[in-house]
Amino acid sequence: MLVTRMLRQMVGRTVAPACSCRTTVLPVRFLGISPPQVPAGANSHSASFSETDLPRVLITGGLGQLGVGLANLLRKRFGKDNVILSDIKKPPAHVFHGGPFIYADVLDYKHLREIVVNNRVTWLLHYSALLSAVGEANVSLARAVNITGLHNILDVSAEHNLRLFVPSTIGAFGPTSPRNPTPDLCIQRPRTIYGVSKVHAELLGEYYHYRYGLDFRCLRYPGIISADSQPGGGTTDYAVQIFQDAVKSGRFECNLQASTRLPMMYIEDCLRATLEIMEAPAESLSMRIYNVNAMSFTPEELAQEVLKHVPEFQITYRVDPLRQAIADSWPMNLDDSNARKDWGWKHGFDLPELVTTMLNFYGSHTRVAQAN
Ligand SMILES: NC(=O)c1ccc[n+]([C@@H]2O[C@H](COP(=O)([O-])OP(=O)(O)OC[C@H]3O[C@@H](n4cnc5c(N)ncnc54)[C@H](O)[C@@H]3O)[C@@H](O)[C@H]2O)c1
Repeated sequence: MLVTRMLRQMVGRTVAPACSCRTTVLPVRFLGISPPQVPAGANSHSASFSETDLPRVLITGGLGQLGVGLANLLRKRFGKDNVILSDIKKPPAHVFHGGPFIYADVLDYKHLREIVVNNRVTWLLHYSALLSAVGEANVSLARAVNITGLHNILDVSAEHNLRLFVPSTIGAFGPTSPRNPTPDLCIQRPRTIYGVSKVHAELLGEYYHYRYGLDFRCLRYPGIISADSQPGGGTTDYAVQIFQDAVKSGRFECNLQASTRLPMMYIEDCLRATLEIMEAPAESLSMRIYNVNAMSFTPEELAQEVLKHVPEFQITYRVDPLRQAIADSWPMNLDDSNARKDWGWKHGFDLPELVTTMLNFYGSHTRVAQAN
């Protein structure tokens, strides 16, 4: 009874007694706004997305390292006009002309709701965030964007019965987690605001799934390596910069120690994993949050691989204590066996393919720039 009374105080209206079944009571923000849209006993499939309909997709924080690539992939699959990219920054011309783009601040709940309603959105991929190093430099903004923003996203998704994807990270683990390999379920005590906010997102998303039937899906990405988009201030950014510098000057100064092992993935694998988990039948998902992995290496091992292509390449080390402390608390390797077993995850890029692809990209761009 105490639980029921507390819940009643929280939601401000009658609550069914606690039981293992799902209830239709929605968070307080929904009440008096629109009728709950999650039917009693709803399963994990979005009721608004029938198998014959194409999803109507909204991507938040879409102008960072990963969003434009994700929009391109989803547009190929679902059609250009079914995928809306959004951010609070001004898009470059090629993005603006590449498909629908709108301004969306995840801190503005009413506007988010307006966007979802006016565009008949059925899938939301929530990429807005302040990453690890940037978040430590501005904790209050990181707390607002990563936590308050997520609350808005969860509520609008539950209210409109969306399928919601929120990426998590290796940063959601901490020094007391098993680090090599790190399983899906283990202790998570991160020491950055980024990590804390991602654990919060994982737990709250899972809670909304069991409590309100929200179709919440989440992958813990490793460090993502991309050629045509810049990283946004994470601890694994060195593994992008090294290729640019190797091609430009043959030298690279690394801000992590030579032996710092971290899990990594090429962007193409990351975006494909995201599409695959979004399309996975609900009954194949034994969990709502999965580790995904591709490779794991140290700066020294990466440099050795670069040397095979750029024989004059030199790496030196000037360690940034903030980033090193973060990296030392993160997994060295992720155990992603559940993703492989449940929905068939398989990475395509190992270290040699990654290095060849990245060097080819920067090499050909440098050659074009020199020719011009
Ligand atoms: N890139 C990686 O290596 C990596 C690894 C693990 C997880 N992730 C996760 O993937 C997602 C995308 O990562 P990314 O590397 O593209 O991030 P990024 O930092 O490059 O981009 C984040 C975007 O969020 C936007 N943003 C900031 N405040 C906002 C607000 N109030 N409203 C709307 N948008 C706002 C920024 O303008 C930026 O374009 C993030 O959630 C991140 O935590 C990324």
